[in-house]
Amino acid sequence: MKILKGNIIYTVVPEKFEVYENSYLVEIDGKVSGVYKHLPEELKDVEVEDFGDSLIIPGFVDMHFHAPQFQNIGLGLDEELLPWLEKYTFPEEAKYDNEEYAKRLYTNVAKALWKNGTTRAVLFSTIHKNGTKILMDVLDKAGIGAYVGKVNMDRNSPDFYIEDTDESLEKTEEWILETKDKYELVKPIITPRFVPTCSEKLMKGLAELSDKYNIKVQSHLSENEGEVEWVKSLHPEFNSYAAIYDGMGLLNDRTVMAHTVHNTDEEIKLLSKRGTISAHCPNANYNLSSGIMPVRRFLDAGVKVALGTDVGAGHQVGIYKVMSQAIEASKMNWFYNGKSEKCLTTSEAFYMGTKAGGEFFEKVGSFEKGYTMDALVINDESLGDKDFRSIEERLQRFIYCGDDRNIIRRYVAGKLISEPK
Ligand code: GUN
Ligand code: FE
Repeated sequence: MKILKGNIIYTVVPEKFEVYENSYLVEIDGKVSGVYKHLPEELKDVEVEDFGDSLIIPGFVDMHFHAPQFQNIGLGLDEELLPWLEKYTFPEEAKYDNEEYAKRLYTNVAKALWKNGTTRAVLFSTIHKNGTKILMDVLDKAGIGAYVGKVNMDRNSPDFYIEDTDESLEKTEEWILETKDKYELVKPIITPRFVPTCSEKLMKGLAELSDKYNIKVQSHLSENEGEVEWVKSLHPEFNSYAAIYDGMGLLNDRTVMAHTVHNTDEEIKLLSKRGTISAHCPNANYNLSSGIMPVRRFLDAGVKVALGTDVGAGHQVGIYKVMSQAIEASKMNWFYNGKSEKCLTTSEAFYMGTKAGGEFFEKVGSFEKGYTMDALVINDESLGDKDFRSIEERLQRFIYCGDDRNIIRRYVAGKLISEPK
């Protein structure tokens, strides 16, 4: 049991914040048992960790992160998606065949996630089974909750970074069996890179594995116009990009699709019907000149939308930064699209980066009773005089102006986690 005291703020619904000033967050067995303004009598003897005037918020959830690309952040961003993949991404990812390299670089990834208060993440590794297991070990040791995917790709890929279809499926099944019950908070996720690099046989085989072992799925959908055109020419028999994943058996409520920038209303309806989550990655979409995801159209259609950094197309690890970028993107979308699609509010963006992504991990990202207790303590003294601001304003200021130095504690499932070594 643990009791943290401070200014507690979180979202239950996207429309508004729940604020408990100077209050108590009570954790039992890794779960939130309640938030109290006054501590109940039976808890009076339990030691309280008092964080004074600091903010206490749910941990951040990053729904889309390429671990091997962390080494590339900030590089090669003068290109659009397809040449960027060829020139920068595939050559870097190919290096993770080397286990020493993987161990060293993946430890840096865990440190960066820890620093930035990302308590849960959904990550791509590379096509290498051993490198993927190293990433899972590193995250498990760090105490960070994660879905980690061994990437699958068997066509339209360079000779030095491609798999044979049958071998890819065999290796993936082996890896699922080796890891699905190995860790408490780290799990495998099936990861066809995207339609251009995955044959029909591979995608269908992966869908079968997903069904057989009840494993979640992640991929990319409609990030870039050139990519969308290419997919159309590869599969003229389907009427949309989303319909291809659907036809392969990969689109359901266990699936997260990154980007979804260029989708028709029909595709948006399909995502909603299937219960697929979209990972909105505004930073990456700016960097690779991909466009702006019309988030409001997805939300209005009932699609669940969460946030991703998409490191290394995204150059920042903090989901708090992605929150402000998602709001900025929605403002540009509003301006350039007839001022019809409403901008995101701060509470909506916060919800997307905590509870909406947390749903993928089941009951994570909120302080409602029964939620897994992932929490951050934020000391915002460096950001301005807090005495004349509300708790909600102080959180907003952290989202826009804060950085990892303001995060003074990180808890995952009730456990305090320290910097990975
Ligand atoms: N589409 C296919 N692979 C990738 C990738 O590594 N990054 C991004 N941003 N999009 C992709
Ligand atoms: Fe990506």
